[in-house]
Amino acid sequence: MKTLSFMSGAFSLLAFAALAQPGEEQSTSQGQYLARAANCVACHSVPGGEAFAGGLKMATPVGDIFVTNITPDDETGIGTYTLEDFDNAMRRGLAQDGHRLYPAMPYPSYAKITDEDIEALYDYFMDEVPAVWQENKENEIPWILSFRWPIAIWNILFLEDDTYAADSYKSDAWNRGAYLVQGLGHCGACHTPRGIAWNEVAFDESDPAYLSGAFLDNWYASDLTQSNRAGLGRWSKEDVEIFMKTGRNNHSTAFGTMDEVIINSTQYLSHDDLDGMAIYITSLPGAHDGEYVYNDYAVAVMRGPERKGAQGANLYMQNCESCHVDTGRGYPPYLPPLAGNPPVMDSDPASLINIVLNGSSRLIVDGTPDAYRMPGYRKSLNDQEIADIVSFMRSEWGNKASPVSAAQVAGLRALTEQADDRMPTLRMK
Ligand code: HEC
Ligand code: HEC
Ligand code: HEC
Repeated sequence: MKTLSFMSGAFSLLAFAALAQPGEEQSTSQGQYLARAANCVACHSVPGGEAFAGGLKMATPVGDIFVTNITPDDETGIGTYTLEDFDNAMRRGLAQDGHRLYPAMPYPSYAKITDEDIEALYDYFMDEVPAVWQENKENEIPWILSFRWPIAIWNILFLEDDTYAADSYKSDAWNRGAYLVQGLGHCGACHTPRGIAWNEVAFDESDPAYLSGAFLDNWYASDLTQSNRAGLGRWSKEDVEIFMKTGRNNHSTAFGTMDEVIINSTQYLSHDDLDGMAIYITSLPGAHDGEYVYNDYAVAVMRGPERKGAQGANLYMQNCESCHVDTGRGYPPYLPPLAGNPPVMDSDPASLINIVLNGSSRLIVDGTPDAYRMPGYRKSLNDQEIADIVSFMRSEWGNKASPVSAAQVAGLRALTEQADDRMPTLRMK
């Protein structure tokens, strides 16, 4: 494994060199670049399907809805949309025929996009995206809940439909980052907790709940504030940039629904834009969740005779040690550490249970799928065993987070029966 540690040093240099490149924008129109930053393709297409032709099933609290075709096809897509129609859908959640869109379309975030960027996006969809004839599917929402008029009331309560207003006390880079994170990037759609009406409780840093972590689609999108253990308090600005560009750094590797974001969106952003986003994110004050300090008590147990009696340690040695090492330090950035890795200390253990049950999807960066994947243990370990391992990794090597029960594992096992359906893929050529 010497070569791996050597590679990780070389990786940091390479990742840095990649960040310093001018980026891919030359061959990309402004509209296409913005469509990537907004990751329209992640929702408006299915793996293996045509880009933007719709068809993806999204779970919402009122039932499953199918995302629509937004290619410029006149009959099944948005070919007859005027700029005004498009703007209404994007920033106010109103379709051309006047029906209200469910906020599964992130228009509460897109409301912050500037007029100029809406226009560039419109031009891209009308002039550059090939029209695809593909009919939209009926939503699977019980009829009583399927009336869309309550969304108008929802919008009055929760939609802040002002475009992004720059904070003149902050730098241009910070403002650019805030605009991208809050608006186009709609990072809060996954990372901000939702209220009782499925509304994101905050849309900017004025509320400490903004980007503080949330459960969605069977993953927990982790805390992006400066909390020291479960948040990004120990990450430098460069760590955040490298993560968004490559999906990995020396602390952590992207997995779950975050793969979708790296694969189709952030890896394409310019150095300046990633820099702004990292400056903004690392400025979000975090809750005080204690300070992470590594310790090796567990290592002595795993190497000594006491291990036999310690179920979690024993199972870890049998199943996980070969990649993540008994020190919990792994071989970053390819085999991530578990010691001090923020999502390992998430307040909600859903992501950890999910990845141990189902394994990870493959990151595709620079056109190359990665070689290392986390295997799934759905078949080989029972609920109690997975609970023991996850509880073990949440409490050792200086990690400190609540234990996990077999019932929690059973819950996620049932919810992710068809986990393979949602494997993120590269969809926008
Ligand atoms: C997080 C998922 C998600 C993302 C990202 C997303 N959309 Fe949507 N979008 C939806 C859903 C879901 C609907 C349908 C909502 C409904 O049926 O009420 C929708 C509907 C639309 C509509 C209305 C079409 C119609 O008549 O049904 C347009 C236009 C649209 N989106 C454009 C975009 C564009 C452009 C982007 C990127 C800038 C984008 N969307 C990104 C989920 C998403
Ligand atoms: C579709 C849901 C989704 C969206 C949208 C999303 N994320 Fe994530 N993100 C996740 C999940 C789930 C995780 C936890 C798994 C992991 O660490 O990769 C995560 C993790 C991360 C991490 C790593 C945190 C850590 O401690 O390891 C960073 C950084 C991050 N996201 C930044 C962003 C930014 C910036 C945006 C907006 C451009 C964004 N995310 C949008 C789902 C999402
Ligand atoms: C064959 C090597 C291998 C084995 C064995 C393995 N893992 Fe992993 N694990 C990985 C890789 C590679 C990743 C990063 C994958 C990704 O995020 O796309 C990963 C990611 C993770 C993560 C998410 C952390 C992050 O930053 O990505 C957790 C938690 C985890 N593994 C726990 C475990 C546990 C618990 C076991 C034993 C039950 C285990 N792993 C066994 C290779 C392995």
